[in-house]
Amino acid sequence: MNRLYLLGLIACFTSHAALAWTSPALLDNKQAFIADLMTQMTLEEKVGQLRLISIGADMPRPRILEEIAAGNIGGSFNTVTRRDNRPMQDAAVQNSRLKIPLFFAYDVIHGHRTIFPISLALASSWDLQAIALSGRIAAIEASADGLDMTFAPMLDITRDPRWGRTSEGFGEDPYLVSQIARSMVKALQGATPSAADSVMASVKHFALYGAVEGGRDYNVVDMSPMRMYQDYLPPYHAAVDAGAGGLMVALNTINGVPATANTWLMQDLLRRDWGFSGVTISDHGAISELVSHGIARDGREAAKLAIKAGIDMSMADSLYRQELPALVRSGEVKVQEIDNAVREVLGAKYDLGLFHDPYRRIGIAAEDPAEVNAESRLHRAEARAVARQSMVLLKNRQQTLPLKKTGSIALIGPLADSPIDMMGSWSAAGVAAQSVTLRQGLNAALGDQARVIYALGANVTDDQHIIDYLNFLKEDKPVVVLDPRPPAELIAEALQAAEQADVIVAAVGEARGMSHESSSRTRLDIPPSQQALLRALKKTGKPLVLVLMNGRPLALNWEQANADAILETWFSGTEGGHAIADVLFGDYNPSGKLPITFPRTVGQIPTYYNHLRLGRPFVEGHPGNYTSQYFEEPNGPLYPFGYGLSYTDFDLSELQLSSRSLARDGSLEVSLTLKNTGARDGATIVQLYIRDMAASVVRPVKELKRFRKVTLKAGEQTRVSFSIDEDDLKFFNAQLQHVAEPGEFEVQIGLDSQAVQTQRFELL
Ligand code: BGC
Repeated sequence: MNRLYLLGLIACFTSHAALAWTSPALLDNKQAFIADLMTQMTLEEKVGQLRLISIGADMPRPRILEEIAAGNIGGSFNTVTRRDNRPMQDAAVQNSRLKIPLFFAYDVIHGHRTIFPISLALASSWDLQAIALSGRIAAIEASADGLDMTFAPMLDITRDPRWGRTSEGFGEDPYLVSQIARSMVKALQGATPSAADSVMASVKHFALYGAVEGGRDYNVVDMSPMRMYQDYLPPYHAAVDAGAGGLMVALNTINGVPATANTWLMQDLLRRDWGFSGVTISDHGAISELVSHGIARDGREAAKLAIKAGIDMSMADSLYRQELPALVRSGEVKVQEIDNAVREVLGAKYDLGLFHDPYRRIGIAAEDPAEVNAESRLHRAEARAVARQSMVLLKNRQQTLPLKKTGSIALIGPLADSPIDMMGSWSAAGVAAQSVTLRQGLNAALGDQARVIYALGANVTDDQHIIDYLNFLKEDKPVVVLDPRPPAELIAEALQAAEQADVIVAAVGEARGMSHESSSRTRLDIPPSQQALLRALKKTGKPLVLVLMNGRPLALNWEQANADAILETWFSGTEGGHAIADVLFGDYNPSGKLPITFPRTVGQIPTYYNHLRLGRPFVEGHPGNYTSQYFEEPNGPLYPFGYGLSYTDFDLSELQLSSRSLARDGSLEVSLTLKNTGARDGATIVQLYIRDMAASVVRPVKELKRFRKVTLKAGEQTRVSFSIDEDDLKFFNAQLQHVAEPGEFEVQIGLDSQAVQTQRFELL
């Protein structure tokens, strides 16, 4: 028996001895145990369990411990070390009357201490194993810090890149995001959420948060039920089916009713239709915001609406605690309604294994790490491997990339050596100083084989209003730090560096705070300070390689026309610099594909690929009036969904169907041969789309239904086949029934969503 396990057992035994709610025999029966515990709880203790507090400056620690001991708190978030959490758990299980343990949550979105690429980048890998690996490691690291729950994954379908939280989601496609939802929930929760190295996934934001009007954060959502069911709800549903233990409710309204007060959403859809049996949590302050939404007169009414609609736990407001006891006494809220919520909170704690051992993830003090922020090398290799899989090669004129490891490289740009930006937003307990910048990555890859000449070239933006916005509330430690020299001087220095080099690598894009909560944009271009730099660099005539760092699709017309190569690296995490270097030098052949469409201009939005068919569609190559288009610019995306280049070439043979008809209980094989016709080994993503040729409601031009990542050596080929059945042809009709209607369908296969070959078949 190893020592850790033994210590765990001792901790477990000690904690059991300290807990006095019920007989140990009941502990093995969740329902009976919780029912028994609830019979012992006062109304105040029940309401206390529904309170999730944010540990911040607003409430001093001694006060928090008192409140916990008084049974007024059910869980907390925003502390990230065992040492932080232990006294709070002590207060709960030693000093409170019923000794009910707390749970500790945190926003672990893309890695915990080892930061993985942002979610949008993870989605760009189209590699479910890689994504799951990032989730598993995040769970291992977060649980080792004493955390029980993460507010992740974020499963909001995003079709408007102006929305800052685009970075936090997995893109625009319901099928791809649903696949990722399943993988992430399973990876975070492991074999069971009660395992010591698992955290419970509290998926968010239920529902439709990604559809805020105009991409402006916290704005309203107004959407037809068909679109909801078809496009926006599937990822949350997939997460619920995968066993997510928690679910965070969105801040937005849905067709006039805020999600936080939406009985249809939380009871009819979530509990009744989907059978969700976990805990629902409001978003930050969302219950009190029901007053601002104008559907509650005051806090009392807000609390009443939220509890009746089905919000089990209130995050970061005290309305439940202030209002629910009186509402129950006056008969406006039934005890039964409180009990339903308490049962779910206790159920989550039970599922987390906390009643069996409240210190399951906190461990014992003797085992605490000496230095919590010490750099761990444990998961760096995985972070590097996942990061390089998440990069998308957007352009590569005359094989500018990969670069040779000789001569000299001018490395220029505000993001070339910015550790904090490498991490992206929501970087949990990541430590900026531990992330590898591109400058460090290039230097490490080159050693003394080639020279790197670095220059900043420009600040990330020169717009003081934007800088102030990004640094707002962070006065003690501004996140955007500027070089005070005038722009012309920075550019002149960059040009000097460029003159001495064989090739220019320009690391440009967004500061991480530009792609974050409450960071909606009206423009999608690279900020003007950096554009001026790029234009100056272009004039040198040297090969210009852009390394993009950003958390949303950008409008890159000038860059596409003028750069020799463009590599989208998103925000690639702790090992980002090494991973980018791997790709730039060809030690890894890029294989990522876009999980979201890149528009040409912001005015084109929305540009999602799976839009409904039109009566007057624009047809490429047939310009003319009275078709659906914008007349000032070319139509269609700059880079379509599913797009991404490689250093090798892939060829797809003619696609074959096993039959021209599909019986209701049958299946159809779609197959072709994929050949690597280039000179390098590489991987690509074969994508299968389906188009319903005629149906009772208007259907999309195409919908992703299958994909496979295939790795082939130079010259190698393989047969790729997919099986399709009736379920893949189903959609929500006008009555919201999930049906497949007979008739003709088109299968489309390609290496992106636009360049596809097609074949038709009939569903009988
Ligand atoms: C965000 C959530 C997050 C919560 C707690 C809110 O502002 O919308 O996504 O989980 O804060 O940090």
